[in-house]
Amino acid sequence: MEVKFLDLKKQYSLLKNEIDSAVQVVFAEADFIKGAEVKKFEADFAAYCGATHCISCGNGTDALTALLKIHDFPRGSEVILPANTFVATAEAALSNGLKPVFADIKDDFTISPESVESLINQNTCAIIAVHLYGHPADMEPLKKIAEKHGLKLFEDAAQAHGAVYRGKKVGTLADGAGFSFYPGKVLGAAGDAGAIILNDETLAEKARKFCNHGRSQKYFHEFAGINSRMDTLQAAVLNVKLKHLDEWVEARNRVAKSYIEQLADVSGIVLPKIHPETIDAWHLFVIKTEKRDNLREYLKNSGVETGIHYPLSLPEQPVFANHIGYCAGYRAVKESKTLLSLPIGEHLSVEEVAFVAGKIKEFFAKNI
Ligand SMILES: Cc1ncc(COP(=O)(O)O)c(C=O)c1O
Repeated sequence: MEVKFLDLKKQYSLLKNEIDSAVQVVFAEADFIKGAEVKKFEADFAAYCGATHCISCGNGTDALTALLKIHDFPRGSEVILPANTFVATAEAALSNGLKPVFADIKDDFTISPESVESLINQNTCAIIAVHLYGHPADMEPLKKIAEKHGLKLFEDAAQAHGAVYRGKKVGTLADGAGFSFYPGKVLGAAGDAGAIILNDETLAEKARKFCNHGRSQKYFHEFAGINSRMDTLQAAVLNVKLKHLDEWVEARNRVAKSYIEQLADVSGIVLPKIHPETIDAWHLFVIKTEKRDNLREYLKNSGVETGIHYPLSLPEQPVFANHIGYCAGYRAVKESKTLLSLPIGEHLSVEEVAFVAGKIKEFFAKNI
């Protein structure tokens, strides 16, 4: 059996008629930039998240960059973010002339509030919580810390479309959020796309201008911006897919539950947990094992694709060689050598999940 990590061809084959006709309309109308589908997606995604404003943009990195930009933090200020995330979270700080400061993570892979608090000083301006792998970060304690120290708190929700924390959708839990619609995400476009979620009219206007050359009207530019607009074609695809998001998140939850049940008795791996107060988006299903590389090879030879997210923690990356903060003893640094992402998604059948779990049990039984 071959088990794919991600199967976008299968997803497209199921939605082909809808996607093809939506794309054809965009061509027929030659409505390529800031078209009707973009406006519809912004309205529908804001409503989906329970927010007042969705500002579409070119990708998730730009969404995070814009979130920081609209606050005009003094150059050189510090932004605390987790040591295990995709590089874009920290790039958003760098491109604003801010310093990323790495906090450690908890056992659920999300930023540790205690570590955050220990890193705050007079230069700190903001915290970015990442809902990594689709697990909502523990926002309540982070909010308390942010309020106590007068800091902004943002969500990097690039991996967590549809996830819920204490009854509220991620994206609406703090001072603003950035989403990515990179094709492999839980809600993915047919190329790059992103969105900023805000509940403040003035900030939303500023973000909208920033992503469109800093302009308030054609050829009138108020401040230095960037060109980061969601293509109408991408919005057309996302409008078709948004209708399926809840059912895909449910499917991912079923797969995660099934892995957890089937692998519960395997010693040698640490499984992610299901939290009663959250609905996880399960963008990734990441296990920890000291035998990561051997297990990965065994699964590969058995036809099972896996991934590693991420092979190096951010403080270990050359680009952050001069970062601030102590990291060598971090859980994020030590555990990055043990992480293995198993296939997860609506594309998987019950048999495929059982096959993957069976191969993992077989590997540990053989004690390779
Ligand atoms: C946690 C996280 N933040 C930010 C991004 C950046 O999104 P994009 O690739 O759309 O720029 C990603 C995408 O991979 C991500 O996983």
